[in-house]
Amino acid sequence: MDENVHVIERYERAWIIFGLGMIAVFLVLIGYLMIANRDSIPIGAGRVNATQVRSEGDFANPRVEQVGNEYVVYVQAFAFGYLPTEIRVKAGRKVTFKITSPDVQHGFQIERTNINPQVIPGEIVEVSHVFKSPGEYRIICNEYCGIGHANMISKIIVEP
Ligand code: CUA
Repeated sequence: MDENVHVIERYERAWIIFGLGMIAVFLVLIGYLMIANRDSIPIGAGRVNATQVRSEGDFANPRVEQVGNEYVVYVQAFAFGYLPTEIRVKAGRKVTFKITSPDVQHGFQIERTNINPQVIPGEIVEVSHVFKSPGEYRIICNEYCGIGHANMISKIIVEP
């Protein structure tokens, strides 16, 4: 073996170590972000009979409920809109959205946040957020749901 082979091996080893190091860094980063952002990761929170969403249970009465210092919002995403029509909360408090659909699949993206769950008929999706700054945040549907899809917009009013 001449000198060049050893030089190549040394570089190869360095790159392998670098590659493994990057994998380790990314795994730690992903783990950290999942824990840090755990509330904004949508979770399944049970099922309801889609045909009864409008007539029975919490989603037949879409509302903002204050629970201690926090809010729970029961949202019905339907073709083509969201109920309750007005969501009003105070800044700096945790807001947990429970959302379902009585008809087809919809989206629930809140602008300027990373909240963006998919809403499936009969499935309750739960996601939380703390609005740090007051203002109006639009909710938009980004799952194509029919002729009125583009107009499926609502808003959240965050008060100081
Ligand atoms: Cu609802 Cu698109």
